[in-house]
Amino acid sequence: MIGENQNQFEWLVFDSNIAIRLLILIYTKTQTNMTEEQKQQLLKFQQGELNALLIYQRLAKITKHPKGKEVFSEIAADEGRHAATLRSYTKKVLKPRAGKAILVGFLYKLLGHNFVIGLLEKGEMKSIKSYRPLKGDFPKIQKIMDDELRHAEMAKSLLT
Ligand SMILES: [Fe+2]
Ligand SMILES: [Fe+2]
Repeated sequence: MIGENQNQFEWLVFDSNIAIRLLILIYTKTQTNMTEEQKQQLLKFQQGELNALLIYQRLAKITKHPKGKEVFSEIAADEGRHAATLRSYTKKVLKPRAGKAILVGFLYKLLGHNFVIGLLEKGEMKSIKSYRPLKGDFPKIQKIMDDELRHAEMAKSLLT
């Protein structure tokens, strides 16, 4: 008799475990699948990509390097795609801000082509580092990181 009671009790524990697991599953499926902190980070990167788009467009306009226009325009297009990728996660439309593009354009004229290329290369490498913690939860970020590495190489190829 005691054995039978124990068995019934075990089934009860088993059932409640399944119920809890199901509830957790339903709960996580109805969530946006990202923490508030991750969302804020993604929004910050999305803004950064939009600003980078303007920076490269500005440089494409003012560069005197024979391949500068082509290379900067190609990178600018990538940055626009990166912003769109991040928007697919954040579901928010942001506007590019021109402040950095104006500053970089000013530095280009004041301190020269190679100085700005150095800045761009550093910026691209820094962004790869910043993206790294997010790529596990947001798989499309790997492609962005690959592009940023390529951008650093493309910028370096413009050194005179
Ligand atoms: Fe980018
Ligand atoms: Fe980039």
